[in-house]
Amino acid sequence: MKILGIETSCDETGVAIYDEHKGLIANQLYTQIELHADYGGVVPELASRDHIRKTLPLINAALQEANLKAKDIDGIAYTAGPGLVGALLVGSTIARSLAYAWNVPAIGVHHMEGHLLAPMLEDIPPQFPFIALLVSGGHTQLVRVSNLGQYELLGESIDDAAGEAFDKTAKLLGLDYPGGAALSRLAEQGNPTRFTFPRPMTDRPGLDFSFSGLKTFAANTIAQAIQMEGELSEQTRADIAYAFQQAVIETLAIKCKRALKETGLKRLVIAGGVSANKQLRQELAKLMQQLGGEVFYPRPQFCTDNGAMIAYAGFLRLKNGEQQDLSIMVKPRWPM
Ligand code: KG4
Ligand code: ZN
Repeated sequence: MKILGIETSCDETGVAIYDEHKGLIANQLYTQIELHADYGGVVPELASRDHIRKTLPLINAALQEANLKAKDIDGIAYTAGPGLVGALLVGSTIARSLAYAWNVPAIGVHHMEGHLLAPMLEDIPPQFPFIALLVSGGHTQLVRVSNLGQYELLGESIDDAAGEAFDKTAKLLGLDYPGGAALSRLAEQGNPTRFTFPRPMTDRPGLDFSFSGLKTFAANTIAQAIQMEGELSEQTRADIAYAFQQAVIETLAIKCKRALKETGLKRLVIAGGVSANKQLRQELAKLMQQLGGEVFYPRPQFCTDNGAMIAYAGFLRLKNGEQQDLSIMVKPRWPM
């Protein structure tokens, strides 16, 4: 079975082919980051227009990369939500129509399920059951994963997602959108003892998160520093980036530890854009070593949005015998 996967939920056009026997045999990605950079965030209308331009050429490139013809494809998976409605409609319409023309099944995949299963593309994949920490630009969730499709939401952010908090704080520090990775690089030069940010919602029971206060804390810290220094020095920017990042990471680690304890599970999967964060990966690896458990994450390239995770999730579902009719359905809001 060879499954073509198409991801267009936000600002990356991702196309990949997953082969049941050989694994991933093609992976193409086009990022729109530059297109949206001047606006400080993703402009939905521009995103849709760019997906329209890029999706078919990327499908062509993926077929070439795998040395396949259209007739070799056995099914098509596409991201059906959650995400920007126009962007989702582009990928789903192209996917469903191609599947109709090629006379193969098509399947709509949940974007966060794609993220959650991405670590399974690695050499040592996690076995079910596990706890998944999903940290992206739109979501922060702790999920108990018992099996494919058996997901129990244990906790989530009540306001900003972790990635969103990274991006907003990065913007305050003068970094371009999306600034998560740049903030993390800046933090490498930070003095660990200069500022301490709060660890929101860790002093009460439960597995929910709240990250919007950290952005406000960063804004206040910046305002105070400007009052004292006149303007923000490079060192102060780095110190603030460090303190912010450390607060997010420690908060995530505390909740992961709690979720593992409450469920008695020993395997932790981290996925989504923020799981590319080196410091987060290190700290969670340390935590799992202390707990005598294991941690799994995708290679950095598959932490952020990509077609490979959608091809893989679609493969598992089609292999399971799932079928969908010809109607095209997208769900901009879709609980997992
Ligand atoms: O999963 P993703 O590509 O898109 C969504 O589904 O939202 O996640 C994008 C998010 C952005 O907020 C971005 O700043 C963040 O992931 N991100 C990072 C890093 N790389 C990407 N945040 C912190 N550290 C990083 N290294
Ligand atoms: Zn994503």
